[in-house]
Amino acid sequence: MKPIKVGLLGIGTVGSGTFNVLKRNQEEITRRAGRSIEIAMVADLNIERARELTNGEVEVVNDANLVVNNPDIDIVIELIGGYGIAKDLVLKAIANGKHVVTANKALLATHGNEIFKAAQEKGVMVAFEAAVAGGIPIIKALREGLTANRIQWIAGIINGTTNFILSEMRDKGLDFNTVLKQAQALGYAEADPTFDIEGVDAAHKATIMASIAYGIPMQFDKAYVEGITKLEASDIRYAEDLGYRIKLLGITKRTPEGIELRVHPTLIPEKRLIANVEGAMNAVLVQGDAVGATLYYGKGAGAEPTASAVIADLVDITRLATADPEHRVPHLAFQPAAISDLPI
Ligand code: NDP
Ligand code: HSE
Repeated sequence: MKPIKVGLLGIGTVGSGTFNVLKRNQEEITRRAGRSIEIAMVADLNIERARELTNGEVEVVNDANLVVNNPDIDIVIELIGGYGIAKDLVLKAIANGKHVVTANKALLATHGNEIFKAAQEKGVMVAFEAAVAGGIPIIKALREGLTANRIQWIAGIINGTTNFILSEMRDKGLDFNTVLKQAQALGYAEADPTFDIEGVDAAHKATIMASIAYGIPMQFDKAYVEGITKLEASDIRYAEDLGYRIKLLGITKRTPEGIELRVHPTLIPEKRLIANVEGAMNAVLVQGDAVGATLYYGKGAGAEPTASAVIADLVDITRLATADPEHRVPHLAFQPAAISDLPI
């Protein structure tokens, strides 16, 4: 069978991680996908760096439109970020009948409803495992592993940058700005780190999880969002003296009045597992009516942990795109079906 052809938009932190992991684990990935996955084209503004990163093995262009308009490309991976050009490219790719994989939670939380509608109308898939909690397969857990459950609440450390900042401030007594710079250098932070430190990134992720868990549209505008910028080193010390850790939590809960959606710093007793999640690690607690509480833990940011999730989506789409369309399992078609319109 001929390889499935992929166009990669943006070869920065996550894009280069994706390219490298696909290459390194090509044999296993091909076996699991049932078909070879070939990155046929890469678009990035920095064409020289992109050529270097791909060792001259792939066609590199600096106009991403050339990728989304190329009839030979089956799947487009959007790893540019933001909701300007990225939205335009994703919608063009869909209109051209291409499946899309994206790690862009900002785009999905704010324009996901429009994107999923366009994808549904065109009969293509949009997959986004990497958009929430980096390498942790939390979207798959919510969509598949917990599918028998009525999800009651989700609470998690879902921003690696802020958890890294809080951990380093507490353990090493470093100041906020020094640690933020380290998080940026390590590739954890967003292009605009305000999204991390003001809780916006965590709210984007909580919005996506709520949409999947409760079958509601994306409603980011209704989230309560508070970041960590008002915290001082003394707050972290006082919390510790009282036997607590401060963590930035993303929380969504089903209540009789509707769905709660909020992000804010939270005091957690230090004996709780989630209080001991350090550095850029993420942890997500999900409470289902049948299963009870479940906990998912792993690296929430960085090149290869995020690539792991991007490639999982590539493999899923490859399997589904290769299968006879009549036998595709609809729940694997990624779009969060709007089965209820619970208010937030
Ligand atoms: P980077 O900034 O490292 O990479 C983005 C790349 O896209 C850069 O190489 C950039 O080039 C390029 N680019 C910008 N504009 C265009 C354009 N118009 N056409 C083609 N290429 C373009 O970002 P990340 O890899 O960190 O993040 C990518 C996405 O993944 C974002 O949506 C982010 O939120 C998400 N994500 C990131 C994680 C992480 O740990 N970093 C984890 C999970 C999700 P240039 O540098 O020249 O501007
Ligand atoms: N900036 C994000 C974080 C990247 O720090 O968690 C992963 O989504």
